[in-house]
Amino acid sequence: MTESGKPGIGLLLLTALVSGVTCFAVAALLVNVFERKQEATETLVRVVALDDDTEDPAVWGKNFPLHYDDYLKTADMVQTMYGGSEAIPNAPTDEDPRNIISKSKLETIPQLRRMWAGYAFSKDFREERGHAFMLEDQIYTERQKVGQPGTCINCHASTYVPMKKLGEGDIMVGFEKLNTMKYDEAKIHVGHAVACIDCHDSETMALRVTRPAFIEGIAAAKAHEGVENYDVNTMATRQEMRTFVCAQCHVEYHFNGEKKRLTYPWSNGLTVDNAWEYYEEINFKDWTHAETGAPMLKAQHPEFEMWSQGTHARRGVSCADCHMPYKRVGGKKISDHHVRSPMLSINNACQTCHKMPEDQILTWTQDIQTRHRKLVDITLDALVDLIDDIKSAREAGATDEQLKEAQHWQRKASFYVDYVEAENSSGFHASQETARILAESIDYSRQGQLKLREMLNKPLAEEKVSKTD
Ligand code: HEC
Ligand code: HEC
Ligand code: HEC
Ligand code: HEC
Ligand code: HEC
Repeated sequence: MTESGKPGIGLLLLTALVSGVTCFAVAALLVNVFERKQEATETLVRVVALDDDTEDPAVWGKNFPLHYDDYLKTADMVQTMYGGSEAIPNAPTDEDPRNIISKSKLETIPQLRRMWAGYAFSKDFREERGHAFMLEDQIYTERQKVGQPGTCINCHASTYVPMKKLGEGDIMVGFEKLNTMKYDEAKIHVGHAVACIDCHDSETMALRVTRPAFIEGIAAAKAHEGVENYDVNTMATRQEMRTFVCAQCHVEYHFNGEKKRLTYPWSNGLTVDNAWEYYEEINFKDWTHAETGAPMLKAQHPEFEMWSQGTHARRGVSCADCHMPYKRVGGKKISDHHVRSPMLSINNACQTCHKMPEDQILTWTQDIQTRHRKLVDITLDALVDLIDDIKSAREAGATDEQLKEAQHWQRKASFYVDYVEAENSSGFHASQETARILAESIDYSRQGQLKLREMLNKPLAEEKVSKTD
C-alpha cells in the first residue's frame, strides 16, 4: 500500500507479473502433460498401415521412429574389454566392397587355426558385430569361397516375407526351398538384416517367432521334457518370448541330410552333453581334420543354450532384459532396440536389479571374463598338444586303427572347447557351466594323449605292469 491507501503501480505490476508467470507455468505444465500423453500413445498412432508383408523396417519406422532410430544404431562399433567390436578399416575391392570390418579372431587366438585345420573357419573368423552388418558380413566372408548352402541365410537376413513368398503363404515350404538353394541364389531373395517383422506381429506388435528351425527345435526340447506338441507362438509366456526371439538365431546348429535342413540339436536337451550325444547318435561330422584325420564337429554361438544353464535364466532374466533394456525417452519407457553389449548400458541393463555402483558391476563382470579367458587358453593349449601328438604318430606311420581312439578324444575335446569359445559372452552367461565344460575338455585332450601313448608305446604299458608288480 502507498501512503494514499491506493495500490501503487509497482504492486499492480508485480501482481500482473506473478499471475502471468503462474499462467505460463500452468500452461507449460499442461502442454508438457499433453506432450507426454501424446508420447505415451505414440505406439497407437499409425502414420502408415503395416501388414504381414511389410518387410522394410523404414516403413515400420514411420510409426515407431524412436525404435527405428535405435535399430539403426546397431551399425555403431564400440569395443568393451571382451566384447563389442572394433572397427578395422578395409580397402574395398570388387570381391569385398566393405570399408570397415571387425577384428580377426584367428589372430587374437592363434590356437584356433590348429583346432580348425582343413576347415573354412581356419581361413576367416572374425569378431561378431551389430545386426546392421549381418547380411553383408555373411556375403563377403572368405568362408563363402568353399560354396555355402542357402541354409546359411536363415539367421543373417529378414527371411519371414521371402519364406512366405517362396512357400506361397507357407513359411515351412519356403524354409525348405531356401535351404536347398545355393547361397548365391538364396541371397537374391532377401534384402534386409533381421527386421521388425521377424520378431513382431504387424497388427498387435506382440512378439512372435518366425524361424522354422527354432519352432521345430524348441518343440523337440520340450518333447524331451515330456511336453508334447509344443507350439511356441501360442504356449510361451511373454517373458519366455523375450528370450525366444533371440534364440531363433543365437544357437548351435547343423545342416541335416541332403536337404541341408537347418536343425538345432536339442532332442536330448539343451546342454553341451546333450548336443554331443545327439551328434554321436546321428554320426555327424562337419569336416575331417587336416593334420590328424579325425572326424570333427564345429560348434557355433550357443548363447541361448549357455544362458539356459546360468544363474540369470534360473531367475527368469531374459536376453531382452540385458540386451534391450527399458530406457526413458521423454516421458516414455521403451525397449532399447540398439541391441549390443550390456557393458555399454550398465545403468539400464543391470542397475535395475543390482543396486551397486556402475564401476563395481563392470569389474564384477570383467573378473568373471578374465578368469574365463585364462581357462580357455589353457584348454586350447591342451587340445593343440593332442593334435601335435596324433600328427607325429601319424607321420611316424601309426595305423588308422591305432589312432582311432585318440581321434575320438580330439573330436570330443574340440567340440567342448569350441562350444565355449564360440559362445560370445566370455563366460558371463553361465560362468560355472563354462568352467565345467572347459575342465572336461582338458581331461579329454589328456585322455587322448594317454591312449595314444598306450597304443604306440608298448614300453609304457610294460612299465605300468612292472609298477603293479
Ligand atoms: C544378465 C544379463 C544378460 C542376459 C540375461 C543375457 N546376456 Fe548376453 N551378455 C551379457 C553380458 C554382460 C555380455 C558380455 C558383454 C561384453 O563382454 O561386452 C553378454 C554378451 C553377449 C553377446 C556378445 C556381445 C558382444 O558384444 O560381444 C551376445 C551375442 C549375447 N550376449 C547374446 C545373448 C542372448 C541371445 C541372450 C539370451 C539367450 C543373452 N545374451 C542373455 C549379459 C546378458
Ligand atoms: C542358426 C543361425 C545361424 C546360421 C544358420 C548361420 N549363422 Fe552366421 N552367425 C549367427 C550368429 C548368431 C552370429 C553372431 C555370433 C557369432 O559370430 O558367433 C553369426 C556370425 C557370423 C559371421 C560373423 C563372424 C564370423 O564368423 O566371422 C559370419 C561371417 C557368419 N556368421 C557366416 C555364416 C555362414 C557362412 C553360414 C552358413 C554356413 C552361417 N553364418 C549360418 C547365426 C547363424
Ligand atoms: C535373424 C537372426 C538373429 C536374431 C533374431 C537375433 N540376432 Fe543377434 N546377431 C545375429 C547375427 C548374425 C549377428 C552378427 C552380425 C555380424 O557380425 O555381422 C548378431 C549379433 C548380435 C550381437 C553383437 C552385437 C555387437 O555389437 O557386437 C548381440 C549382442 C546380439 N546379436 C544379441 C541379440 C539379441 C539380444 C537378440 C534378441 C533380442 C538377437 N540378437 C536376435 C543374428 C540374430
Ligand atoms: C530381434 C527381435 C526384434 C526386432 C528385430 C525388433 N524388435 Fe521391437 N521388440 C523386441 C522385444 C524383445 C520387445 C519387448 C517386447 C515385450 O517385452 O513384450 C520389443 C518391443 C517393441 C515395441 C513395444 C514397445 C517397447 O518399446 O517395449 C515396439 C513398438 C517395437 N518393439 C517396435 C519395433 C520396430 C519398429 C522394429 C523395427 C525397426 C522392431 N521393433 C524390431 C524385439 C525386436
Ligand atoms: C531382472 C533382474 C536382473 C538383471 C537385469 C540383471 N541381473 Fe544379475 N542377477 C540377478 C539375480 C536375481 C541374480 C542371482 C543373485 C542371487 O541369487 O543372489 C543375479 C546374479 C548375477 C551375478 C552372479 C552370477 C553368478 O553366476 O554367480 C552377476 C555377476 C550378475 N548378476 C551381473 C549382472 C550384470 C552385469 C547385469 C547387466 C548386464 C545383470 N546382472 C542384470 C538379477 C538380475
